[in-house]
Amino acid sequence: MDRERFYITTPIYYPSANAHIGHGLTTVLADAMTRYKKMRGFETCFLTGMDEHGQKIAKAAALAGKTPQRHVDDMAEMWQNLWKKLKIENDIFIRTTEERHMAGVEKIFNTIYEKGDVYLSRYQGWYCVSCEAYYTERQVGKERICPDCGKAVEVIEEESYFFRMSKYQDVLLKHIEENPDFIQPASRRNEMVNFVKSGLEDLCISRTSFDWGIPVPVNGKHVIYVWFDALSNYVTALGYGSGDLSLYDAFWPADVHLMAKDIIRFHAVIWPVILMAADIPLPKKVFGHGWVMLDSGKMSKSTGNVVDPLVLIEKYGVAAVRYFLLRDIPSGQDGYYSEDALIQRINSDLANDYGNLVSRTVAMVEKYFDGEAPTCGDAPLPEPDMELRALAESVTDEAAEYMEKLDFANAMTAVFKLISRANKYIDETAPWVLAKDPAMRDRLGKVLYHLLEAVRIATLLLAPAMPNIPELVWAQIGYWPEGGLSWDLLAWGGTKQGQRVSKGAALFPRIDA
Ligand code: MSP
Repeated sequence: MDRERFYITTPIYYPSANAHIGHGLTTVLADAMTRYKKMRGFETCFLTGMDEHGQKIAKAAALAGKTPQRHVDDMAEMWQNLWKKLKIENDIFIRTTEERHMAGVEKIFNTIYEKGDVYLSRYQGWYCVSCEAYYTERQVGKERICPDCGKAVEVIEEESYFFRMSKYQDVLLKHIEENPDFIQPASRRNEMVNFVKSGLEDLCISRTSFDWGIPVPVNGKHVIYVWFDALSNYVTALGYGSGDLSLYDAFWPADVHLMAKDIIRFHAVIWPVILMAADIPLPKKVFGHGWVMLDSGKMSKSTGNVVDPLVLIEKYGVAAVRYFLLRDIPSGQDGYYSEDALIQRINSDLANDYGNLVSRTVAMVEKYFDGEAPTCGDAPLPEPDMELRALAESVTDEAAEYMEKLDFANAMTAVFKLISRANKYIDETAPWVLAKDPAMRDRLGKVLYHLLEAVRIATLLLAPAMPNIPELVWAQIGYWPEGGLSWDLLAWGGTKQGQRVSKGAALFPRIDA
């Protein structure tokens, strides 16, 4: 039987040397979600990539004294290296200068052109090069600044192809209203509904004042507007417009387009309208998460207030950085980064709670059972054992429910309920007291068995967030799941009597602030 499929995308990033942990949030979230879905048995496809055309890139390349192509080639390495270091396991890395992508964009353009949804006219108005977006008089205000990034906008006047977005206003509204999951979280959906109700204007989809883009198929003087080009990547990456539609047939429509709220309008309004006009089914969900904030405001490459993920990974390890992003930025809302907050998270959750649980458990099995996992025995379980076991089960369900909603902050909180309870269980059962009484040998074995299970289950539940940690834990508790990680392994009782348990280095050494 065919496995269920899951396709998730991040935005494709502009080539820029200032990658920061705000970009990291989107990609880590998509990666954690993909790993979770894999554990649930899905066949997954995870797409990220680079958005390489447009006026902004042409300008940046000129400034760097390079050709645009050279400039984007240099930056592609930077992004791919960052994703590797962040343990991102994307299946596809698309670049919009690739032939396969350009062919797909041309196909979409031609389809809507032939349908009569494109007409030639003149655009005169405001443009923000940094956001690559058009704004109205009212949006830029008297100060003439971009309402999204705050930079000065420029006036452009040029011949342009327009896309009849206005025609699709009612059908888009109907789709949003009939599919409450289409735009998430609900606050974003309301924003988008209001935006669409305020009136969809036709959109300029070509530029003539520079040439770094995909030529308009029917008129070589124009290049296709960079957002039209970029958004199409979600289908061209799957082969749309090429001779091989196997990935497209398997994975489209996307299950989730993930991005931060600043670009939800492009994904929840412009992209669906392009798809409707091109007779392509709409994605199932567009999810706009919040921003990573600094005390000084939004972390943003255009203002230069950024935190480099590579520096943090070097200093604190990739697991801690990923955990922080998933745990401290509440789902769908903004969250604050500071180095103190990161250190605090590492020390409290990872070192004190999780790391300690692992090292105490392993040390006791070594000390009292010569490093061999004891048996749980058949005798009925006393109260604290029953409670720990029931909690492991309920926390597994709770974590899954949150992960399904892309709410990793609450999913992590759920897992740490189990970890805290297991630490408390150590104090309640006092294995060091049991160890002194030979008559309590069975009881001691049961207690340590329960702890090994708590460690194993917590580690499996944290694996999507911190994918490099399970192997380190398995090496200590002597547990090697065959055939990779899967949700079925979460059933109670995976620890086998006689498993070789041996202490390793501390998983998360405490950081001295
Ligand atoms: N190239 C466009 C996206 C095209 S998608 C068809 C783009 N690129 S970007 O490099 O500027 O940023 C990509 C995305 O990174 C943002 O849109 C947003 O989703 C994410 N973030 C950038 N700064 C962020 C924060 N401070 N916090 C959270 N996410 C942030 O936009």
